[in-house]
Amino acid sequence: MAEPKKTPKKRGFYVSMRLLHNKNGRPQERSFFYRYYKLVLWFSLSLYLFISCFIPNNNTHNKPTSLTRTHASNSEATLASRALFESANVTLLQQPTSNPALLKNLKIFVYDLPPKYNTDWLSNERCSNHLFAAEVAIHQALLNSHVRTFDPYEADFFFVPVYVSCNFSVVNGFPAIGHARNLLASAVQVISSEYPFWNRTRGSDHVFVASHDYGACFHTMEDVAIADGIPGFLKKSIILQTFGVNYNHPCQDVDNVVIPPYISPESVRATIENFPVDGRRDIFVFFRGKMEVHPKNVSGRFYSKRVRTAIWRKYNGDRRFYLNRHRFAGYQSEIARSVFCLCPRGWAPWSPRLVESVALGCVPVVIADDIRLPFPTAVNWSEISVRVAEKDVEKLGEILEHVAATNLSVIQKNLWDLRNSRALLFNNRVQEGDATWQVLLSLAQRLDRSYSRGSSVSGESDPDT
Ligand SMILES: *[C@@H]1O[C@H](CO)[C@@H](O)[C@H](O)[C@H]1NC(C)=O
Ligand SMILES: *[C@@H]1O[C@H](CO)[C@@H](O)[C@H](O)[C@H]1NC(C)=O
Ligand SMILES: *[C@@H]1O[C@H](CO)[C@@H](O)[C@H](O)[C@H]1NC(C)=O
Ligand SMILES: *[C@@H]1O[C@H](CO)[C@@H](O)[C@H](O)[C@H]1NC(C)=O
Ligand SMILES: *[C@@H]1O[C@H](CO)[C@@H](O)[C@H](O)[C@H]1NC(C)=O
Ligand SMILES: *[C@@H]1O[C@H](CO)[C@@H](O)[C@H](O)[C@H]1NC(C)=O
Repeated sequence: MAEPKKTPKKRGFYVSMRLLHNKNGRPQERSFFYRYYKLVLWFSLSLYLFISCFIPNNNTHNKPTSLTRTHASNSEATLASRALFESANVTLLQQPTSNPALLKNLKIFVYDLPPKYNTDWLSNERCSNHLFAAEVAIHQALLNSHVRTFDPYEADFFFVPVYVSCNFSVVNGFPAIGHARNLLASAVQVISSEYPFWNRTRGSDHVFVASHDYGACFHTMEDVAIADGIPGFLKKSIILQTFGVNYNHPCQDVDNVVIPPYISPESVRATIENFPVDGRRDIFVFFRGKMEVHPKNVSGRFYSKRVRTAIWRKYNGDRRFYLNRHRFAGYQSEIARSVFCLCPRGWAPWSPRLVESVALGCVPVVIADDIRLPFPTAVNWSEISVRVAEKDVEKLGEILEHVAATNLSVIQKNLWDLRNSRALLFNNRVQEGDATWQVLLSLAQRLDRSYSRGSSVSGESDPDT
């Protein structure tokens, strides 16, 4: 794993470095000229904005102020970029040829935060490997990526690397996320006081990862998550989150991209070496995980909405179903030996099983009504998985028998296309088509949020200048 770069904390350091053309120039002078240049630019822009409010313009008389004009040309740019993207996803699905133009010269600045926000947590090995570790993986991949810029003034987006999921309460338990809000608030405090970029857009070109049960609500119980809501300071930003549903939910009431949960690509590769995807599959239906026989009523909610209980009650003992309620470190080999892998909801609708099933060639059976699945433009979920409504869970046996008798081989053929598995795995270095690359594609679709481009686009397309 790459060591994150240690850089001086001084604001504008890289800027002045990059503006250095004359090798003999003194830093102070450069810095002075840079500021002077910015002042002039700022002054001309203000003057222009001021004047354009009073000078009527024939081309745009229905748009009286320059502000709306800026906005209009921005949305034209968005339309154009949408058109580009739509032709892009066909290309993506059909021919995996290298095409960096898809990312539209996207540039991302990665904040260099004090290590207590991120790398300190890596002293615990689990931090970079558990199912919420996308926050680590995306950060590491961006640090090495060609979209990274060291000049924040040319950046389209600002990545804020805070590892909130690495505070493990017990050795094998899940992370405590009670501290997440404070840790993030403190990170935002640091960047907004040390750099000018947060205040400039109120964070709307800033990107965070929230890879928990309920995204940026930062609580594992849905009722509490909803009551707490997304912290106000994150509401204008872009959140990369594993949580996603197809209806209004307070925990996705923010511009968000649904990302897959983290599964180590090395572990998948190691399993596939012993169990190739097109090998023998001697288990018809597989599920290993928590299935409560008598789920408790936890403030009005039941674990997995009792879906897993229904599966256990109905199919435990059925020869077609391999169900197990205990942990087993070698479970990936079981997935690789199975035809269908159940992915029922837990507390939250999403599950790491989804990624493991796809990566190991087992047809995912998604039992989570209204779930929004990751990267739908890269992974055509309806072609590679089976959806079973929560209310139909007792008919699972018949439904899967029917699929096996009709279109199973079609689904498997689609599923085993390596592009699916590639799109759901995060690598240390971005690879075209992998999960981080899909995140970059999603950001490239949001370039209308880019502050640096926003101003240059409106300048270029302005008929007056
Ligand atoms: C590309 O993706 C978008 C968004 O999912 C979808 O609406 C559109 O139909 C896709 N285009 C093609 C040609 O598949
Ligand atoms: C870890 O989480 C616990 C529980 O939320 C919290 O009390 C503690 O302060 C956290 N530790 C750090 C270093 O943030
Ligand atoms: C950004 O705004 C906050 C609150 O208004 C202020 O405290 C801070 O100094 C500002 N940051 C910069 C870099 O000007
Ligand atoms: C679950 O508990 C809530 C109170 O927390 C109660 O209103 C509800 O009726 C209970 N549901 C069932 C099915 O027992
Ligand atoms: C996914 O596959 C279905 C069925 O073949 C097709 O109708 C749909 O357009 C595809 N979606 C995308 C985004 O390509
Ligand atoms: C397979 O058949 C089922 C009905 O049994 C249908 O719902 C599903 O869309 C089909 N999938 C594909 C990829 O053909």
